[in-house]
Parts: sequence; C-alpha cells; structure tokens
Amino acid sequence: MSEIIVAANWKMNKTVTESNDLVKEILKEVPVIDSVTCIVFPPFLSLPSVANLIKGSSIKLGAQNMHSAQKGAFTGEVSGLMLQDYCSYVLLGHSERRVLFGETDEFVNEKLAGAIEFGLRPIVCVGEQSSDRARGLTENVIRSQIKNSLKDIEGINDIIVAYEPVWAIGTGTAASPEDAEEVNKFIRDELALMFGSEKVLQTPILYGGSVTEDNIAEFLAKPNVNGALIGGASLSSEGFTQILQNACNLT
Ligand code: 13P
Repeated sequence: MSEIIVAANWKMNKTVTESNDLVKEILKEVPVIDSVTCIVFPPFLSLPSVANLIKGSSIKLGAQNMHSAQKGAFTGEVSGLMLQDYCSYVLLGHSERRVLFGETDEFVNEKLAGAIEFGLRPIVCVGEQSSDRARGLTENVIRSQIKNSLKDIEGINDIIVAYEPVWAIGTGTAASPEDAEEVNKFIRDELALMFGSEKVLQTPILYGGSVTEDNIAEFLAKPNVNGALIGGASLSSEGFTQILQNACNLT
C-alpha cells in the first residue's frame, strides 16, 4: 500500500511572520506525526525560515512551483537548484499555474525533469474543468495531462500525482469520494500503461479540492486516494491540525 500524504498548499497567502506562526502552531498541536507524510508548501519567501523551524520535526517542506532551467535569464523565476537547499518537494502543474499563467503539459514535463534532476520529489497536478466534466471529457483530459506531463520520464518511483478537479478548488464543493476514487483509479491505470502495473502500486495519488477536517476521512477511506492536497482549510492551524489528526487516526 502507498504511504498517506497530507499536503498543505498555502498558495499566495501568509507573510513570512504569518508562515512562521502557522508552522509553530502546527508543531505545537501535532508534535509527532508518524503515520502520515505531512508536507507544507508556503510561498517562496517563507521557505528559509519555515525550513529552519521544522528542522528535526516530521513536517516536510515543498515549493509551490519551480522553473525547469537550472539558472539563467528568467526574470522572476526560481530554479530547482535554488530550492534544493530548503525543501524536498515541489508542486508542478497546479491548475492555477495552468489556467492563470498558461502553463502547458509540455512545460510541466520540462519542470518534472528538472525536479528529478535536483532531487526534488514532485507532486504533479492534473484535473478537469467543469465544462470538461459536463461534456463527459474527464478521462480524455486527465489521460492527456498524464501522458504529456510525464512523457519520457524514466521512473515513476518518487513521483506523486494529485487529482484536483478545477471546479472543486476553493468552491466548497468537493468531488464525491466515489468520483475521486474513480478518477484516481483511472490515473493509476494510465500510469500502469506507461510504467508497468507493479511499479505504480506504490505511487501516491492524492485528491485535492475543498478538502476539510469534515470530509478528509471519507476520501482516505478509498483505496486509490492516498492523501489530500489542501488549500483553504490548511491556512488555519485549527483546521489543518484537525485534518492531520483525522488522517493519523485512520492509519
Ligand atoms: P482548496 O482546498 O482551497 O479547494 O484548494 C485545493 C488546492 O488547490 C490545493 O492545491
């Protein structure tokens, strides 16, 4: 069975001081997290101080994005080489990057190769728009995102995938656990075609989109939902520590 991952994507929220306060609260409330992998994704500026605060704890750190190149004339960008000093995970292809900043599967694929090169464990995000779902195109969209984002990648070993239906993000309307299970299973089957079925048994496939302390248990009860990627509900220590505790109680 895959590990269970509880990941907090803070998006463009929290100043450095606020980030430090939030992580201190989490560490105080849940000092030992042994049965799930907990990763926080603060804004870039908070990475150094949060890295310092979580030293020796079981919380892991990730970046919300990266550029595929090691260095160069890419104003405003941050490379895997720069991130590897602070964190060990990176989010790639989040729907906000795809929709608001025009990131294509091809660019996500380049970033994925860069993340692997710099030893960052990637969470590759995929998900359909509500219009895709309404037209019965969910599987086509997900298949194409998976195939193209993971194209020519040699091994699946350290890769995590997150299914985040765009219509469920920040709306308060989560996918049903049954829908999440169905798509996550589809993702595993697609990965099996690319990497072999044995290899993908251990691949964590997360669900994200309006996950809260009230519904996390229903998602984690599904065999192909190996964790959650949480936005809004991860911004308060009460909400996030409750999510963590609920997840730990299940494993
Ligand atoms: P919400 O939990 O706010 O819906 O956000 C989900 C998300 O985008 C996590 O990456």
